[in-house]
Amino acid sequence: MKTILFIFGTRPEALKLIPLINEFKKYGNKFNTKVCITSQHQEMLWQVLQFFDTEPDYNLNIMLPNQTLFDLTSNGLKKIENVLNEVKPDLVIVQGDTTSTFIGALAAFYNKIPVAHIEAGLRSGNKYSPFPEEINRKLVSQIADFHFAPTYLAYENLLNEKIDNNVFIVGNTVIDALFMTLDKIKNMNFEEKFSFLYSDSKLILVTGHRRESFGEPFKNICNALLKIAKDNNDVQIVYPVHLNPNVINPVSSILSEQWNISLIKPLNYPEFVWLMNKSYLILTDSGGVQEEAPSLGKPVLVMREVTERTEGIKAGTAKLIGTSTEIIYNEVTNLLLNKNEYDKMANATNPYGDGNSSAKIVEIIKNMLL
Ligand code: UD1
Ligand code: UDP
Repeated sequence: MKTILFIFGTRPEALKLIPLINEFKKYGNKFNTKVCITSQHQEMLWQVLQFFDTEPDYNLNIMLPNQTLFDLTSNGLKKIENVLNEVKPDLVIVQGDTTSTFIGALAAFYNKIPVAHIEAGLRSGNKYSPFPEEINRKLVSQIADFHFAPTYLAYENLLNEKIDNNVFIVGNTVIDALFMTLDKIKNMNFEEKFSFLYSDSKLILVTGHRRESFGEPFKNICNALLKIAKDNNDVQIVYPVHLNPNVINPVSSILSEQWNISLIKPLNYPEFVWLMNKSYLILTDSGGVQEEAPSLGKPVLVMREVTERTEGIKAGTAKLIGTSTEIIYNEVTNLLLNKNEYDKMANATNPYGDGNSSAKIVEIIKNMLL
């Protein structure tokens, strides 16, 4: 019997790890599966945990309103120490590139516990963008013993850094979560929740939260959205606003008065998936949304200067457009008016996975550990 400890703290990590946790739990005679949440996020994390009926064994409760990276890192790291000493895991599993990911891996290393890194090998090549994620994931690659790369490109990135031992290409577990959810929502009715949608409008779905966009870039993004909404009466922009105060403040002050812009609270995952499916196009800086939207055949305009998810761009379903007001406005207008351009991007392709990543990962870990 081997003890596996999952450590995570934010919405996207939960989404991408729950399919794997469920898969491990199928082997209760071989694995003792424990879940530790840092609670780097609160509401946004519990939305996911509740939808997927996941009950954590340990909750470190480190979220404070608008805390700094210093607070997050130091408070979290110290609290993980106690959990490791109690659980004494044979393997710690972390996902992605958040501060919780980094401190989970670092804490395991301090106790000489092997680490598996899910979604390994993503690189933008820019130290400060995304910030602090690019460095978090590079540091975790140095620590990890097992690297689960979602795509061939991610695998190559690791090889280029001479990380060539125990690297496996398995797809992204977010597609497992997406397929599970699409199946669950087939018989769910969201009409009442979304009664504010205009039936005859083109829906533009927006998300944004990246730290490198705080300040001026966020204002530019909001000004673009405002101009798009003002110039297109047949368009409705729906923006579930991330709870980070650096996001909420500019977004509400610039956009809250415009009649065809709906600013709403973060949606739980099934609602968000339903809305992605309903949308005409998606504007985002989110990593996960870039991975999900191509599976749904929705064009994605990526409001960032660089992205580590270039597979969607190569497949032609996503376009990297930056954060300038004028460029965002022009790119959206182009997709609203130019049907050929729109159709070229609206392909349902799946460069990030086939929905079976978790099963592949568990199979590999079984072979390595048991
Ligand atoms: C974090 C991750 C980022 C990831 C993103 C996913 C870091 C440094 N950042 O960014 O990599 O892409 O999550 O969403 O690891 N807040 C709430 N309730 C919540 C969540 C957040 O009130 O449920 C507010 C709090 O004021 C919190 C702030 O948002 O202090 C920022 O949260 P934090 O986790 O530091 O950063 P994110 O911007 O969410
Ligand atoms: N998401 C959600 N509700 C929302 C907005 C996003 O469930 O209101 C999901 C989305 O489908 C994706 C994930 O949250 O799977 C992305 O989270 P986020 O953008 O916060 O983080 P990132 O992927 O950029 O790390």
